[in-house]
Amino acid sequence: MPSFTLQEGQSLHYHDEGAGEPVLLVHGFPLSSDLFQPQRAALSARFRVITPDLRGMGRSTAAAEPSMALYADDLVALLDHLGIGQVIVGGMSMGGYVVFALLRRHPERVRGVVLLDTRPGADTEDGKAGRRKMIEQARADGADAIADAMLPKMLTERTIQQQPQLADFVRSMMAATPVEGIVGSLEAMMRRPDSTSLLSDINVPALIVVGRDDQLTPPAESEKMAAAIPEARLVVIDDAAHAANLERPDAVNQALLDWLEQFV
Ligand code: MLT
Repeated sequence: MPSFTLQEGQSLHYHDEGAGEPVLLVHGFPLSSDLFQPQRAALSARFRVITPDLRGMGRSTAAAEPSMALYADDLVALLDHLGIGQVIVGGMSMGGYVVFALLRRHPERVRGVVLLDTRPGADTEDGKAGRRKMIEQARADGADAIADAMLPKMLTERTIQQQPQLADFVRSMMAATPVEGIVGSLEAMMRRPDSTSLLSDINVPALIVVGRDDQLTPPAESEKMAAAIPEARLVVIDDAAHAANLERPDAVNQALLDWLEQFV
C-alpha cells in the first residue's frame, strides 16, 4: 500500500488501482480503505480507483485536531501527489461528510459525486451526546468495544447470521482502528457544519446509494438529498443496512458502473 508524506510530516496511505477516469472513494467511521475492496475489484477494470485511509484510520497517522475540512484538504494533497486534477468522488457515511467539505472548499476538483449511506445535516444535541459517550467508551474499553457496538448498525442481522466471514471482516476493520483515530473522527463529526444548503449548488452529476435497512443514515435522508441536488440519481439497495457496498456489493457495483458510464 503506497503512502506519501503530508506537509506536517504525517503519512497518508492509499490504494491506487486500474486506469481510466479517476474515482476517489472515501470510507466512513470507524473503517478504512478496506471498506471498498469489492468496489476496487469491480471498478478497476475500467476506472482508476483511489481509496485512501483517512488520517488516524487504517494505516494513516492521526492528526492532532482532525476535521472534515482537514480530511478534504488531505484528499486534495493526495490528488496533487498523484497528478490528478478533477476526480469523481464518492463517500460512505462520514466519507460523505468529507465529500461535502471537499465540495465546499475545492469544488473545481470534483467531476461527479457519489453519496453512499450518508446524510447532509450536522449532529443534533442528542447526536453529540451520543458521540461523547462513544469517546468515553473508546478511551475506557478500546476499539473492540466500538466495533461490537457498531457491527449491528453496519450489516443487517440476517447478514451477520448468514455471512459470519463478512461480519468478521467488518468487525476486524473497526477493531483495528486506533483509539486516537476513533476519538479524533468522532470529534470531527461533532464539529461538522450542516451541508444541506450546499446540495442545490452541486452542479455535477450525483449518484446516491443507500441500504433500505440503513438505520444510521436512513433512506429518507437520501431521498431528501436526491430531491435537492439538481442532477441526482437515487438507488435504494434491498437487504442492506449501513455498509450496503459490502453487504450487496454486486448491486452497488452495478449502480456505480451504470452511472459512471456517462464519464467515459
Ligand atoms: C459512519 O458510518 O461513517 C458514521 O457512523 C457516521 C456517523 O456516525 O454520523
